[in-house]
Amino acid sequence: MPEKQNGARSVTTNQEGPYKELERVVRKHAATLFLRPVADHTRKAFDAAKEFVDRFYDNVSANKPLDIILDSGCGTGESTIHIAKRFPDTPVIGVDKSAVRLTRACTGNAPAANGEIPPNAFWVRAELLDFWKLALDEVNGGRWHIPYHALYYPNPWPKQSEATRRFHLHPIFPTLIKLGEQIELRTNWEIYAREFAKAARVLKETMVGISCEAFMAEQPITAFERKYKEARQQLWRVLIGK
Ligand SMILES: C[S@@+](CC[C@H](N)C(=O)[O-])C[C@H]1O[C@@H](n2cnc3c(N)ncnc32)[C@H](O)[C@@H]1O
Repeated sequence: MPEKQNGARSVTTNQEGPYKELERVVRKHAATLFLRPVADHTRKAFDAAKEFVDRFYDNVSANKPLDIILDSGCGTGESTIHIAKRFPDTPVIGVDKSAVRLTRACTGNAPAANGEIPPNAFWVRAELLDFWKLALDEVNGGRWHIPYHALYYPNPWPKQSEATRRFHLHPIFPTLIKLGEQIELRTNWEIYAREFAKAARVLKETMVGISCEAFMAEQPITAFERKYKEARQQLWRVLIGK
């Protein structure tokens, strides 16, 4: 059983270090196309996000890509609100597949909201694997530019047998890596952070900065981050890009 400290479970795993086949798996995914068809509900959610972006930039001539920030796996949306306040001139799209969690975000009930939703924050219920593919089409088509992509506390899938469900060991990873200029991953599991950074290095063999470090969340910006802080768990952050 995972160890429970003050309410939040720390990750327990049968994996002793980074996944041994990581480099082979990441290279294999880089060499193949991820062809899974996009689910209808995510296509509709994506269209809603695009509409929000277009309305936000109403009257701005689109002769250059529009800046959009993604908060992927935003849960109750608290981080979306924080990011939206930090970048008030850029639409911030929170994406999660859980309707229950998102309901709290959209009604302004997230603790960061104070009952008010910043006008640049928007949430959609969608499957990330599909949403990222559609978003990359916009980036490749010169319509979107994603200066910052937040991935805060994704599901760790800590069992070795489930490792390929982790985003960096999944066929979606090359898409994810191409999507944002800066990607910030946060996790409470050191192995996940180290693997994510290592997988990014396999794909980004250029001069792009990739850092992986332990950090303290002085002021938590997500529901999970608050739980981990209360449980005094060590947190990890990977920064890719500028
Ligand atoms: C551990 S929670 C973290 C939530 C939030 N970022 C936080 O820190 O409070 C992971 C979130 O990712 C969402 N999620 C996981 N896999 C997903 C997927 N493939 N598509 C959409 N959402 C996903 C889950 O619904 C959940 O809300």
